[in-house]
Amino acid sequence: MINLKRDAGYKAAEYVKDGDVLGLGTGSTTHYFIEAVGKRIAEEGIKVMGIPTSFQSLLLAKKANIPITSLEEHDIDLAVDGADEIDPDLNLIKGGGAAHTLEKIVDYSAKKLIIIADESKEVESLGAFPVPVEVIPQSSRVVMKALEDMGAKPEIRMAERKDGPIITDNGNFIIDAKFDEIESPLHLEIDLNTIPGVVENGIFTEMVDKVILGTKDGIKEL
Ligand code: A5P
Repeated sequence: MINLKRDAGYKAAEYVKDGDVLGLGTGSTTHYFIEAVGKRIAEEGIKVMGIPTSFQSLLLAKKANIPITSLEEHDIDLAVDGADEIDPDLNLIKGGGAAHTLEKIVDYSAKKLIIIADESKEVESLGAFPVPVEVIPQSSRVVMKALEDMGAKPEIRMAERKDGPIITDNGNFIIDAKFDEIESPLHLEIDLNTIPGVVENGIFTEMVDKVILGTKDGIKEL
């Protein structure tokens, strides 16, 4: 059966070199990348290490027999991560899985960053997807007010099968901020992080080296 996320994830694994330290993104697309790297370890005997961006990618990496390391110990040669939206300048919205804070640290620090996605994530301009904003729980009302003043419609993200807000891997809340339009992703990324209580927002600018999209007509690279 056709699986565009799998196509993108397996293609990205072809860029992994023996000896690489890998940044392991989070989500349903990076799931396939991690699986494919595990296959290359088993079949080709390549030696790599992984730095996960969430408990999800940590567990997947362990299942794939990828040795785990940390940013304290190693620099990252290649990070591979998913996205919720990708614009023509390769700006992103991320954080649909509430993991964008550690993803941004890992992706930013990597020598090379490849984004993998199915074709539905390619957009003309960012903003149909709300911008995830991770906040210290005690600041949430203050941050919601600041986001409204910036023209957004903010909502605290609620958990499923747990009462109340979702809690991130870092013990924080997520506020999803819907903007009518995002004229400058770079300026919005900077402005959001100046609100006291904001830990990190899900706009990623100026860090992507390559996008691998799974499309119905095959792999497309941007
Ligand atoms: C995790 O918080 C996100 O940044 C994901 O990387 C993003 O939501 C893409 O996820 P999928 O690959 O599941 O669409």
